[in-house]
Amino acid sequence: MSGSGIDESQIPNDPYELFRQWWAQAQAESGMKEPSGMSLATADAQGRPSNRIVLLKHWDRRGFVFYSNYTSRKARELHENPHGALLFWWDKLRRQIRVCGQVEKVAERESDAYFAGRPRGSQLGAWASQQSRPLDSPDTLSKRVAQLDEEFGNDPIPRPPHWGGYRLIPREIEFWDDGAFRLHDRIVYLKDGEHWQIQRLYP
Ligand SMILES: Cc1cc2nc3c(=O)[nH]c(=O)nc-3n(C[C@H](O)[C@H](O)[C@H](O)COP(=O)(O)O)c2cc1C
Repeated sequence: MSGSGIDESQIPNDPYELFRQWWAQAQAESGMKEPSGMSLATADAQGRPSNRIVLLKHWDRRGFVFYSNYTSRKARELHENPHGALLFWWDKLRRQIRVCGQVEKVAERESDAYFAGRPRGSQLGAWASQQSRPLDSPDTLSKRVAQLDEEFGNDPIPRPPHWGGYRLIPREIEFWDDGAFRLHDRIVYLKDGEHWQIQRLYP
């Protein structure tokens, strides 16, 4: 399926409304395994970029939330340089969304609540993984998971202090739609105080 184009008269004033519509379509679209997968770009203090896929776990008017290890490479880069960018590419819809802005850690209670709802295996994994650090062998990690499993026993597993959420607070959201037999549509929303300016861009 190709995108359906972005009709001028139907462009909402609010980018979250357009995101809501596209997000609902991406989730309803069969054959798309992971619509919540998004590329997260960060850069270190020297401006050298890197990116990786993370999953969108929550979004609202405050921004877009993903969870990760707070000592990983992305965490180190975000500590040095809090500017980040997200990119969704929904191939079945032939749509792309770019979101640029500042990244902050979410409130501890928000991370606690999300962590509490994760499967036990993922909780143990979050404790065991020293994400992005050198690992001598996969055995070391599985042994650590087994050890933690025993240590926690039947107790509820608390969130590790080195794991939690980040929220990207957008200052720019761009929607790209590959309309059939036509030029691509690009609509960008730029944050201007409490409001959003809307521009159409050359494809
Ligand atoms: C489909 C997919 C989903 C992923 N989701 C996450 C995620 O939500 N959080 C996360 O920390 N890593 C996730 N990863 C792993 C990251 O891509 C990355 O390898 C890891 O976070 C380490 O990145 P860093 O070294 O840049 O910090 C995912 C990978 C894939 C392919």
